[in-house]
Amino acid sequence: MNYQIAVLKGDGIGPEITESAVRVLEKTAVLTGHSFRFSEYLIGGIAVDETGVPLPEETVSGCLASDSVLLGAVGGPKWDSLPPELRPEKALLGIRSALGLYTNLRPARLFPALRGASPLKESVIGAGFDLLIVRELTGGIYFGERGYRTGKYGEEAFDTEAYSVTEIERIGRTAFSAAQKRRGKVTSIDKANVLETSRLWRRTMHRLAEEYPDVTFGDMLVDNAAMQLVRDPAQFDVIVTSNLFGNILSDEASQITGSIGMLASASLGDGTRGMYEPIHGSAPDIAGQNKANPLAAILSGAMMLRYSFGLTAEAEMIERAADRVLEAGFRTADIMGEHKGTPLSCSEMTEKILKAITAQPI
Ligand code: IPM
Ligand code: MG
Repeated sequence: MNYQIAVLKGDGIGPEITESAVRVLEKTAVLTGHSFRFSEYLIGGIAVDETGVPLPEETVSGCLASDSVLLGAVGGPKWDSLPPELRPEKALLGIRSALGLYTNLRPARLFPALRGASPLKESVIGAGFDLLIVRELTGGIYFGERGYRTGKYGEEAFDTEAYSVTEIERIGRTAFSAAQKRRGKVTSIDKANVLETSRLWRRTMHRLAEEYPDVTFGDMLVDNAAMQLVRDPAQFDVIVTSNLFGNILSDEASQITGSIGMLASASLGDGTRGMYEPIHGSAPDIAGQNKANPLAAILSGAMMLRYSFGLTAEAEMIERAADRVLEAGFRTADIMGEHKGTPLSCSEMTEKILKAITAQPI
């Protein structure tokens, strides 16, 4: 099959890790008889520098004309003082919204080879954990009304959160269906003891749960969930939550796996087009130094094959290659933990993956 993939490298380590992912996808295509065509578009700070805006119209139309989108990362100190409309992060929210990507899947599993890099104690890690955060991505406080006004104490800023039943239902259905294909458990996370949007969220999730009797359902307050994630992560299978809570909890979940540099994500809407990106950001401190861990970007490419193109076996080829390279003891700097040896560079790690895919000795 032929697929058209839009590549948005972005800022910081975005270009180096995205190039790694493209090379791995190209190799996979050659080995399996598919053809992937890649077209690059600007996003983030680099787009501001070159075109004056963080999300050029051409980028949106290029993505809409593609079968799927691969994204690196956006942002950096150089653009931090720009007005809100010109910030690189605004482009990320803009492209999620323009492509209708209301579901964000963020899997966090402990790679057995990386146990030593997890900050959790052996006794807490136990047999490991494998959870999936289903984060609502185009609603809530990220997209609500905001501004400045005069309040009781003078000038104040405000942001508002709104959620409709429709938005809660569609993300809920994604979570329940995902759980049916996993271990059959959904935990919905909210702040229903304080927030009205959370009370509507909770009522709606309870109603949906009745339609999925084969799924074990429970809810949890977000503060408790933050604690439970480090106390007993294995209790979770699928977590479904709002845009803001999902953003926060997914960083926490990634850290307990050993490194945020390992975790991939998929953003999906109603069709098959998705956007695939590592959870980590642009890491400006190590940008351009060939030190970044390319695995999250490479594994994002694997998620694209699985979720957008239905190429499960091809996705597994990439995932198995990553497991093999880690089990053989190869590490980038961020996942060294107590591991001995010299860390690999971004390009060296990419070479290892390319070899492992072709079943060559690594
Ligand atoms: C993420 C990031 C973004 C978010 C930022 C960069 C706008 O933290 O994808 O988790 O908050 O959604
Ligand atoms: Mg985040």
